[in-house]
Amino acid sequence: QQTPLTQKLIPIIDKLSNIVYEQNLNAGVDSDDFIDLPNITVIGSQSSGKSSILETLVGKDFLPRGTGIVTRRPLVLQLCNINQTDIAVLDLDSQDYLKESQQSDTEGEITLEEHLRRTNKNYQKPTDAKPLMEWGISNNPINLKIYSPNVVNLTLVDLPGITKVPIGEQPADIEFQIKNLIYDYISKPNCIILAVSPANQDLVNSESLKFARDVDPLGKRTIGVITKLDLMDDGTNALDILTGKVYPLKLGFVGVVNRSQQDVKMDRSVEQALEKERKFFIQHPAYKTIANKCGTRFLGDKLSNILMKHIKEKLPDLKAKISFLINQTEQELIQLGYDEDESNLLENKPGLILQLMNNFAKNFVSSIEGTSSNI
Ligand code: GDP
Ligand code: NA
Ligand code: MG
Repeated sequence: QQTPLTQKLIPIIDKLSNIVYEQNLNAGVDSDDFIDLPNITVIGSQSSGKSSILETLVGKDFLPRGTGIVTRRPLVLQLCNINQTDIAVLDLDSQDYLKESQQSDTEGEITLEEHLRRTNKNYQKPTDAKPLMEWGISNNPINLKIYSPNVVNLTLVDLPGITKVPIGEQPADIEFQIKNLIYDYISKPNCIILAVSPANQDLVNSESLKFARDVDPLGKRTIGVITKLDLMDDGTNALDILTGKVYPLKLGFVGVVNRSQQDVKMDRSVEQALEKERKFFIQHPAYKTIANKCGTRFLGDKLSNILMKHIKEKLPDLKAKISFLINQTEQELIQLGYDEDESNLLENKPGLILQLMNNFAKNFVSSIEGTSSNI
């Protein structure tokens, strides 16, 4: 039961744990004031498996995906780890979605799938694989938040596929349009690039690696992702690529096996796909020795470690900002009638705040130290 005393204290404690919570667990989602976290952006040719990778990383079916389905707008996905059931929220700041969501019964909370179905007459589930070539490419991103207990906190961007030849109704300068769009995103120094190359095409021709090299010549913020390892010709494998002997990238290559068109048709879940992927690597004669460094789970770990390292580098800044907030909160406490003689609990309040902050910093640093060797 709340006393007048706790009534005053609780909002302040809540505020503090929000700071701690946001920095510790929710970083990169709503904490722009503190840390400008890198985005993770997926690039690659059409049908190389970009949307499939994101979907498996997120653990949810929600992206338009398939051989005939082409992503036409950047899709900015914010993954937020919460201890509740899944919920997908489209950003209401995206003007063209606002109108739609005001009409809906669910107050703007709809899945992208539902949204696409409602707003695009031609939208079909990926299993129907109907090409939607009449849509033009647009710079205007779709912002989608996914709240789920099953995600790590990341912001991911799915970009339209690199293409050279206009298909269907696509404008003649499509290559140029997409090129500009991709450079817009990946040239930002704090963008982690997932450069996707399908294993059944020659790495020498990989457009994604060319793009990445243009903006990140030293390969410091590029992870190479090799998809479709299950579709390589018999007797060939990508071991040399995956172990860094073919193409130098500081952050290395990760091999993945996404769901095939057939898996999608058969409604294989993400969990089933991950299990199938795991088995593929541990049973494969060429990959079994590096199986613990392959697959979408490993890619996810690698990505979160990179973000943690980034936060660690920002920690001194963060501490300064938190100190400032502590002072501010102490002032508020005094204004709310903080009285040193009133109780021990109150007396300990500033100490408690500092303890929270110190615990946060300590746990955070040790969690990074425990994981950074995997990067
Ligand atoms: P995007 O155009 O780059 O976003 O590629 P998609 O994720 O839409 O995938 C294109 C097609 O390739 C889909 O039919 C996927 O099921 C299939 N695909 C993607 N990755 C793999 C993979 O690793 N193995 C197999 N067998 N099929 C894949
Ligand atoms: Na596709
Ligand atoms: Mg796609």
